[in-house]
Amino acid sequence: MRLATTLALAGLLALPMAAPAQTQPEPATPDQLVDALEGLFGRNAGQRRAHPKGFCAEGEWTSTGAGAALSKATTLAPGTRAPLLARLSLAGGNPRAPDNVDNVRGLAMRLDLPGGQTHDFVVISAPLFGVRTPEQFRDNLVVRRPNPATGQPDQARIQAFVAANPEVTRQAAWIRANPPSDSYASAPYFGVHSFMFTNAAGQTQPARWSFEPVEGRRSMTAEDRQRLGPDFLAGEMSARLGRGAAEWRVFLTTAQPGDVLTDATVAWPEDRAKVEVARLRINRIAAADACTGQMFSPVSLPEGIEPSDDPILQMRTPAYAVSFSRRVQGQ
Ligand code: HEM
Repeated sequence: MRLATTLALAGLLALPMAAPAQTQPEPATPDQLVDALEGLFGRNAGQRRAHPKGFCAEGEWTSTGAGAALSKATTLAPGTRAPLLARLSLAGGNPRAPDNVDNVRGLAMRLDLPGGQTHDFVVISAPLFGVRTPEQFRDNLVVRRPNPATGQPDQARIQAFVAANPEVTRQAAWIRANPPSDSYASAPYFGVHSFMFTNAAGQTQPARWSFEPVEGRRSMTAEDRQRLGPDFLAGEMSARLGRGAAEWRVFLTTAQPGDVLTDATVAWPEDRAKVEVARLRINRIAAADACTGQMFSPVSLPEGIEPSDDPILQMRTPAYAVSFSRRVQGQ
């Protein structure tokens, strides 16, 4: 190998044609992430700073027992049945977000497991997230803030940010190719992150969660978007549950060699073998305030499941705590 190449690989010499060095962004804090949401969507007092439009429901989790080989968590034990509180929501920070435009749907829930442990899930209807790092989460929102002088975002600044952070285009591309569902019950949901599963023999392996609607995936057509309008999802779900439970088959996909474990903007291939570990049922809408004082946390997990080192997963709960603390103080 030429000396210059060796030095360049060692970080000691820039090759003449190398791209200009990117300065590392300042590490993000949980407060900055919530400030960035407020900066773009406004401070909506008393409401969640992300996914504010939504409602609460109740349901039940039934384990198939097939996941017990992966983890000793009670969630996956044979015969486990657990009541759950769930919240269905729209992504973004706008409490009046229209239901009929391209976006991602959210599902948060807490299982009350036999024996007293709980298990939270906070998942979305896309198999990948919009940013890879907390710094990208902050800076992606900051660059999109409108210039107060013009009322418009600075397109050149956005383009420069996207060029330097190409991962932020992946979820948007998926959303363009996959129109939103016509019901919360016809959407799949995805954990997006890898979690570490440890079984009774002490073996640990990474896996990802996914939820497939039993009634099948259904996307909105252009005509559906017109007919259903901007505010149909809550009423549709209430009517839908009047006809019977909304159900999902719950799967775990284990990682294969080469799978990325710490980048939520990379979906694993769809054709991977999956283990069907549970059935999720949402049975009824809950009282309007049943989720107001709740904070769902993706790292509130039973013994036998641990978070991976995904930097987004590591940052979510501290940011949710900032949002929770502001909203319960009426800010
Ligand atoms: C660093 C990355 C992220 C930040 C800063 C962030 C921020 C937030 C905040 C502030 C809330 C409101 C929490 C509350 O007030 O209780 C929230 C809610 C939510 N987030 Fe995130 N989020 C991130 C990543 C994700 C990811 C990767 C997913 C899904 C895979 C996700 C799905 C949701 C859902 C479904 C809710 C609604 C929870 C509920 O209904 O209580 N978020 N997020």
